[in-house]
Amino acid sequence: MGNEEMMSIAKKRGILYPSFEIYRGVAGFYDYGPLGGLLKTNVMNLWRKYYVAGEGFYEIEAPTVMPHDTLKASGHVDNFTDPMTQCGECKEIYRADHIISETIGEEVEGLPDEKLTEIINENNIICPACEGKLEPVKSYNLMFKTQIGASGKQVGYMRPETAQGIFIAFKRISRFYKDKLPFGIVQLGKSYRNELSPRQGVIRLREFTQAEAEIFVDPTNKDHKNYKNIEDYILRLFGQEQQLTNSEPITISVKEAIDQKIVSSQTLIYQIVLAREFLNDLGIPDEEIRFRQHLPDEMAHYAIDCWDVEVNTDQYGWVEIIGIADRTNYDLSSHIEHSKEDLSVFKEYDTPKTVVVTKPSFNMKKFGPTFKGDSAQAKEILENTDPEIIKKSFETENSYKFSIGDNQYEIDDSFVTFETKEEQIKGERLIPHVIEPSYGIDRILYAMLLHSYTEDMTEEGEKRAYLKIPAKIAPIKVAVLPLVNKEPLTEIAEDIEITLRQNNLISYYDASGTIGRRYARADEVGIPYAVTIDYDSIDDKKVTIRNRDTFEQKRISIRRLPLIIKELIEGYTQFEDVEE
Ligand code: ATP
Ligand code: GLY
Repeated sequence: MGNEEMMSIAKKRGILYPSFEIYRGVAGFYDYGPLGGLLKTNVMNLWRKYYVAGEGFYEIEAPTVMPHDTLKASGHVDNFTDPMTQCGECKEIYRADHIISETIGEEVEGLPDEKLTEIINENNIICPACEGKLEPVKSYNLMFKTQIGASGKQVGYMRPETAQGIFIAFKRISRFYKDKLPFGIVQLGKSYRNELSPRQGVIRLREFTQAEAEIFVDPTNKDHKNYKNIEDYILRLFGQEQQLTNSEPITISVKEAIDQKIVSSQTLIYQIVLAREFLNDLGIPDEEIRFRQHLPDEMAHYAIDCWDVEVNTDQYGWVEIIGIADRTNYDLSSHIEHSKEDLSVFKEYDTPKTVVVTKPSFNMKKFGPTFKGDSAQAKEILENTDPEIIKKSFETENSYKFSIGDNQYEIDDSFVTFETKEEQIKGERLIPHVIEPSYGIDRILYAMLLHSYTEDMTEEGEKRAYLKIPAKIAPIKVAVLPLVNKEPLTEIAEDIEITLRQNNLISYYDASGTIGRRYARADEVGIPYAVTIDYDSIDDKKVTIRNRDTFEQKRISIRRLPLIIKELIEGYTQFEDVEE
């Protein structure tokens, strides 16, 4: 519950509101207002605490405008599409899979356009706006196209995900990590998708913020160094099997999920656990979170296993807020193919391996007269052909035939002989696989606000509705309230506010109205602590600090105030333990 009530506070109090309002707005764009901007920054910084400080993944910032070739290589120019259908009468546009699942209650994401058209026709699905007939489904590319430079010759796109900036810079990033797998790198920033019919507020924006980590791993070893610490955690998983058999999600330990191969790797399930911890830290409880595996048809063009972290909402049902995918080496391989750059890393074995190698030995005296200008190329071809094929041909045909351009050549074993010997090799080159948690900051912020919306009674027995935002995320940390709007209380309060700000604590001074009304205003936007300055404060240099959630009050010295508030916010001290 609470979508409408929460959004009403969010709009009224400067957290979130539709963009371009005075020009009647455009669907899919939202502003973060004076408190929203702070709130979003705090959510992003909490994410950094988990991923940059916690996991040790460094952060990059790549451009949001990307040239055509990069996104052609990544597959987005050809595959980043949604199925669209248009009403033949009123011309309204719909996302075909959404309109179908809303009507028949079945998940059809990822089915081909023809199949979706068939389902629309079979079920007589019509335009919800005018009941007109819907036209056949077509694929529509979601990227915003632009041009780079004035000539119009260079096509660009606004990036549809932050991830690509990381893959494209992989060579430098890998060098930064000295090629030592596994390593992770993150990027937080705007992504753009020209969504077909965004009607779900901040859930479906055309410009939104992602926080993504790309974790590069050895394809033969996707284990995680901290796996032992999470093995016994219990998760609610909605795997492919439960979805395909219309069953409920299962409650299962991490170890069971890995042993039964429900989740494909330790690194992937570690990310599921981390996502849950992050959401819990934002105040979203376990029972409102589930992990849904993508069905085979639904998987993105690059993924082999993908889990959505979904949060329960009253308005939109279960909503994906984070996607966690095993992208294999799809992206790096595509960028290798298109850029012709080597994006592999050298994996050094723990101990060198002994291997048997067959090496060619060439009789170069015969090359010049036979191959003339093609000599160097002939040598290269023979060096790169499997020796077993050439040897076999010598045995069966007494010769080996190959061509260079239009020239056909035939050689015998007087040109090349093969020697077999043992060699020690230190390692091999490989293209890393990628495990990617992709967090949608806007949807996370929405889910956090939704679950923070609380209705209860004040200490005076009045109804109160407020956003119970965790203290470390709250945009404003302290409300500073002189008991009456008079000197010297106002002067003391103003000094306290300045001191708090100097200590990097965002505070809010409010001297108007009854103290009850001021508490209510502060609570509404989630200010976790209110400090009241009364007549005793003049002599004892103490103030009363009130806890938003419990109404508990403590009287503490003004001198200790900034430190105590910082400790409370960080969770180093609990309110009940604050010494008076
Ligand atoms: P959906 O199926 O809802 O369109 P998606 O599967 O396309 O989402 P991903 O491509 O996995 O989403 O993107 C990763 C994350 O980015 C999502 O979990 C979500 O939080 C966020 N995201 C994606 N599209 C949008 C959007 N249009 N508006 C806001 N956030 C988005
Ligand atoms: N990077 C995953 C996605 O945005 O789809």
